[in-house]
Amino acid sequence: MELRLSVCVLLLFCAAENSNGGKILVWYSEASHWINMKPLLETLVDRGHQVTVLVPSTSLFMNSSEPSRFQYEPFDVDVSFEDLEKIFETIIHFFMYEMDFMNPFEIYVTFYDLMKNNKNITFKFLDGVVKSEPIMKKLKEGNYDLLFADPIYSGGDLTADILGIPLVLSLCFSLGNNLERMCGQLPAPPSFVPGAASKLTDKMDFSERLSNVLFYALQDVMMEQILWKEIDKYYSEIRGTPTSACELMGKADIWLMRTYWDFDFPRPLLPNFKFVGGIHCKPAKPLPEEMEEFVQSSGDAGIVVFSLGSMVKNVSTEKANMIASALAQLPQKVLWRYSGQKPETLGSNTRLYNWIPQNDLLGHPKTKAFITHGGANGIYEAIYHGVPMVGIPMFGDQPDNMVHMEAKGAAVTVKFNFMTTESLRDAVNMVINNKSYKENAMRLSKIHHDRPMSPRDEAVFWIEFTMRNKGAKHLKVQAHELTWYQYHSLDVLAFLLIIDLLLIFILFKSCSFCFKRCCSSYRHVTKRKIN
Ligand SMILES: *[C@@H]1O[C@H](CO)[C@@H](O)[C@H](O)[C@H]1NC(C)=O
Ligand SMILES: *[C@@H]1O[C@H](CO)[C@@H](O)[C@H](O)[C@H]1NC(C)=O
Ligand SMILES: *[C@@H]1O[C@H](CO)[C@@H](O)[C@H](O)[C@H]1NC(C)=O
Ligand SMILES: *[C@@H]1O[C@H](CO)[C@@H](O)[C@H](O)[C@H]1NC(C)=O
Repeated sequence: MELRLSVCVLLLFCAAENSNGGKILVWYSEASHWINMKPLLETLVDRGHQVTVLVPSTSLFMNSSEPSRFQYEPFDVDVSFEDLEKIFETIIHFFMYEMDFMNPFEIYVTFYDLMKNNKNITFKFLDGVVKSEPIMKKLKEGNYDLLFADPIYSGGDLTADILGIPLVLSLCFSLGNNLERMCGQLPAPPSFVPGAASKLTDKMDFSERLSNVLFYALQDVMMEQILWKEIDKYYSEIRGTPTSACELMGKADIWLMRTYWDFDFPRPLLPNFKFVGGIHCKPAKPLPEEMEEFVQSSGDAGIVVFSLGSMVKNVSTEKANMIASALAQLPQKVLWRYSGQKPETLGSNTRLYNWIPQNDLLGHPKTKAFITHGGANGIYEAIYHGVPMVGIPMFGDQPDNMVHMEAKGAAVTVKFNFMTTESLRDAVNMVINNKSYKENAMRLSKIHHDRPMSPRDEAVFWIEFTMRNKGAKHLKVQAHELTWYQYHSLDVLAFLLIIDLLLIFILFKSCSFCFKRCCSSYRHVTKRKIN
């Protein structure tokens, strides 16, 4: 009886929730972007929304056969798993092992080639959705209320436009903040807003401000050459009219930026940009029994958690041995996520795992430090739990992320290609034994938690807000409608300049006229006197 009652209540509860639930279409993503998105989607399902995720037939991280609480909309892509894996491996290998030994020109050429290759894959994925009639038909018939996308994976904006539904974007940041600045109109004065991936902080001397200005300019030129030109062509072909992809992205109703002032430096904001860094963070859960035993065996020394992220499973044998002998010299027990061959120098205090419950470990009271590649997800988990970090950044935004954490006094960085056993060991000892790192990590944690609502609740609120109001156009600045010279008031300045020049001209003319009159009458007078 009691059971039946609770089932009844449960059904009623579900029905009540479902009645105001919306239909959300989620654009595909990959790797840490997908890992980051999942907890938000689960929360949306908890709140009675129907969440449908577009999943490509080839993906390293998305799997439409995996059981989950949201629905999948699988689509075919003409890319093999091996090709995709190879591209990722080539990119990672370039950043990890090659880039440090190249000159800037070689870096530029190699990077350009990699991006070009990557772009072809991007279009093949996009083909699978927008060029597939059955898929587009299904999406149209789905009557979705909103499309949610990470704009690093192109095409969400185009699809939202074709379906005529509101668009919410979520991203950490783009290279040089290109998307946020150029498409979202987010102001970024180069004098105090360091470009993302520039490795600068908000305190810049003259030469740093100069390099920041040049960095923004270089990124804009690169993005135009590598990305926008081709994407504009693709979008124009699909829509049948000349289309600017950046303008289409600018139509997004809300931008959920996955940073916050615990991690980023304060900057000017716009009403439709919400800063929800740490959107995926959760309280720690208990560890598996065997792992808990190992952690407890560390005694007062505590443990060190070590992961190079979801993309890097192994390192070269030489590097692995070097790292293992550094870890062997620590008094702590070390849990290392590593899928490569067991290094010969592995100490008895270190255990290797194919996978670790990273968040649960970082939230464990025995955790003293986190050795990380500096991915944004891991950094946010460390901030959430107040754990000081040692960074071994490798690619993408990672070096820049670690610059932020170092500037805030919560981390020490070592260089992957130039670190030694001693420098890695000393860095870990430093963040553990010098109290300032733990204190700063705890301060960031406090900033992270002390706000009106959690980042995930805030993200959910703005997604629901956009569905309730069928968009959020009233939050968009008029800057989207202006040309570049109107934006910087150059036309007004030119007008004022002309008026000024005119006034000066008139003044000059009248002065010289008066002067002539005066002079001539003076001459007149003197002449008469003489006469
Ligand atoms: C996808 O998930 C299913 C079910 O969990 C599993 O059997 C399959 O091996 C997975 N596929 C890939 C490519 O990981
Ligand atoms: C990318 O696609 C274009 C056009 O389809 C082709 O000409 C080019 O060779 C491709 N590039 C790579 C690196 O595969
Ligand atoms: C990592 O492992 C893969 C296969 O498991 C191998 O192909 C690759 O060479 C390894 N990477 C390094 C740097 O050793
Ligand atoms: C601890 O670290 C801070 C910041 O790097 C440094 O200023 C301070 O001198 C260090 N203290 C000791 C005792 O090493």
